[in-house]
Amino acid sequence: MFFPIILNIAGLALCQNYRANVKLTAVGTTFQPSNPIELLGSISNTKSVIHCSAYCNQNVQCRTFGVNLLSLSCSLYEGHITTGSVVASSSLSQSSFVGGFIYESALFLNYNQTCSTAINRYLVCVGARLVCPINTFWNGSICVNQFYGNTLCQLDIQCRGDLTLICSINSSTCVCNSTRYYWDGTRCALCTNLVCYTQLYFIENQSAAPWTYFSYLYLAFNTPVTLEFSFRNDNLYWWLDDVSVNKIGNTTDLIINGGFETDDFTGWDLENPYGISFGGRVVNDAASHTGTYYYCDGATGAADFLSQTFNVIIGATYNVTYWLKGEGSSPSLANVTIKP
Ligand SMILES: *[C@@H]1O[C@H](CO)[C@@H](O)[C@H](O)[C@H]1NC(C)=O
Ligand SMILES: *[C@@H]1O[C@H](CO)[C@@H](O)[C@H](O)[C@H]1NC(C)=O
Ligand SMILES: *[C@@H]1O[C@H](CO)[C@@H](O)[C@H](O)[C@H]1NC(C)=O
Ligand SMILES: *[C@@H]1O[C@H](CO)[C@@H](O)[C@H](O)[C@H]1NC(C)=O
Ligand SMILES: *[C@@H]1O[C@H](CO)[C@@H](O)[C@H](O)[C@H]1NC(C)=O
Ligand SMILES: *[C@@H]1O[C@H](CO)[C@@H](O)[C@H](O)[C@H]1NC(C)=O
Ligand SMILES: *[C@@H]1O[C@H](CO)[C@@H](O)[C@H](O)[C@H]1NC(C)=O
Ligand SMILES: *[C@@H]1O[C@H](CO)[C@@H](O)[C@H](O)[C@H]1NC(C)=O
Repeated sequence: MFFPIILNIAGLALCQNYRANVKLTAVGTTFQPSNPIELLGSISNTKSVIHCSAYCNQNVQCRTFGVNLLSLSCSLYEGHITTGSVVASSSLSQSSFVGGFIYESALFLNYNQTCSTAINRYLVCVGARLVCPINTFWNGSICVNQFYGNTLCQLDIQCRGDLTLICSINSSTCVCNSTRYYWDGTRCALCTNLVCYTQLYFIENQSAAPWTYFSYLYLAFNTPVTLEFSFRNDNLYWWLDDVSVNKIGNTTDLIINGGFETDDFTGWDLENPYGISFGGRVVNDAASHTGTYYYCDGATGAADFLSQTFNVIIGATYNVTYWLKGEGSSPSLANVTIKP
């Protein structure tokens, strides 16, 4: 994609120390940064590639520019040209170009020198020393753009801290600084039930099964969390009893009314967003697993949702247990999750 054109734009720069080399791509290309946040600004009425390149040169954060000589627009980007994509643009853009500033160790010889050392466009003066500009880090030879989410890292400084990314010790990737947030490809977004849940159990169209004991160890990433049972059984029923959650080594049950012995939904929340019939109810008969009561759900046509929310200690492991009986038939579904 690169044309072997090297622009030396020192002529436009204020002084010799602002000399920079730029590689220009083929005509008819545009730059797609890996994140929209990298657009530093756009300048209208830019009449030449050299002008756009000079605007970029004046901004220590600018590494890549895109210029369109038909619309006379010049866009400045923070990302190095290799961090985004250079794409062939549509037919009308035969006058567009992308320029990528060249970054090599020879340009960073003044790194960590005192600011009285000759300054250049690649470093900024902080606390009397020449250091990397914002949103970049020193990799031992040059200043490199900080990484976005789900990228391999060793240190926090390598991740975009301004987007609340830190380097996870466990996964060695840049992750959102709180488990209440997840990297949605562009930013740290608040976890929703749909993306941040842990599935403990899922089955569709099961065969009839007697009372069965389920037990899971759950490592808490969030607090509070919601344990949710979602059931559908168009012809018959699911039976649930003796739900409990306790921290390993602590016998306190965090679930209120886990055996439904109050004969109602005390402690629980039952939601029926699809307005289905034969949804969850508390039943009193000898069929319960223990005690007198149990939960019975024959949601028809779609699922309903039984849930309870409780506080946990982040980093601690919890024992989630319950008894479930399925009368079988299809369509049917059981979906047990824990979510923030
Ligand atoms: C910067 O220079 C100081 C003083 O010479 C030194 O202590 C420090 O380790 C240097 N930092 C880096 C990243 O090279
Ligand atoms: C720093 O990054 C540049 C560009 O990715 C790479 O060529 C160079 O090898 C890196 N230097 C070190 C010491 O990792
Ligand atoms: C995450 O980042 C935000 C914004 O910088 C900050 O307010 C919050 O305290 C950080 N949370 C943690 C757990 O570090
Ligand atoms: C299972 O439950 C989770 C959490 O509510 C939900 O996001 C997911 O879509 C459910 N899966 C199915 C197949 O219903
Ligand atoms: C057990 O867990 C309960 C509920 O979280 C808490 O109040 C109690 O202090 C814990 N006991 C011990 C010994 O940690
Ligand atoms: C990361 O690893 C540490 C140590 O192994 C562990 O205590 C912690 O729970 C882990 N955190 C996550 C989010 O996996
Ligand atoms: C989880 O709880 C069940 C019963 O409540 C118990 O039998 C099981 O040993 C517990 N598991 C762990 C790892 O503590
Ligand atoms: C479950 O059964 C229904 C029909 O009763 C069918 O449409 C669906 O595909 C089945 N699902 C699976 C996973 O077998």
